[in-house]
Amino acid sequence: MKRLVAALVVISACGFALVPASGQGAGGSDHLEARVKAFFDARRGDWRDMNVPESDGQLLHDLVVKGGFKRALEIGTSTGRSGIWIALALSKTGGKLTTIDIDPGRHSEAVRNFKDAGVAALIDARLADAHELVPKLDGPFDFVFIDADKEWYTNYVKAVIPKLAVGGCIAAHNVYPGRGRRGGGMTGDYYEYVSGLPFLETTVTQGGVAISCKRREK
Ligand SMILES: C[S@@+](CC[C@H](N)C(=O)[O-])C[C@H]1O[C@@H](n2cnc3c(N)ncnc32)[C@H](O)[C@@H]1O
Repeated sequence: MKRLVAALVVISACGFALVPASGQGAGGSDHLEARVKAFFDARRGDWRDMNVPESDGQLLHDLVVKGGFKRALEIGTSTGRSGIWIALALSKTGGKLTTIDIDPGRHSEAVRNFKDAGVAALIDARLADAHELVPKLDGPFDFVFIDADKEWYTNYVKAVIPKLAVGGCIAAHNVYPGRGRRGGGMTGDYYEYVSGLPFLETTVTQGGVAISCKRREK
């Protein structure tokens, strides 16, 4: 419950309307929502590849729906748990996700999971080194989720900021600013960097998801 309240506070702080995501949004379908739910129910307890917890998956989904985001990028697919949450949201906004992973085994399993969950048509899953691919992607993006090698987070964000649409958001996993630069581990520098940029508004959930949104001109 505490985490849900924190998530709602963050979404509110980022300027989105607090409208609960319904099972059916623009371009979405109750059928897909039910299929994804059934897939997640069947796989409960089976996510062992550094996947986001369910609460963070729900948070990503809600950010995309409430922001009306359509052009999404994920760095760090693993076996696809967060990608499925994001894709479900994109089914409601009419968007598409590009997701990248360097590991062939996890990439293959993610592709299988995307098919089984019914969201494959919404996802372009790339097997690639994100260090090389991200700077080459055209953009623009209005939602980016960074969840790969922690020591490269700041490089990733530097590569995606110029491609981030005004009003768009970057979410980054495992960012703990309260623990200080050292205690924040390899993502400590990331938080220092994004929170120092005047054109981004950054908030962090209790669970360590840093959400940085590009300010709209006033
Ligand atoms: C924490 S997991 C991602 C979890 C996923 N977002 C989820 O919730 O299901 C991190 C992933 O980043 C991938 N990764 C690490 N370095 C990478 C790189 N240079 N390029 C692409 N992917 C990378 C790893 O192979 C791993 O699968």
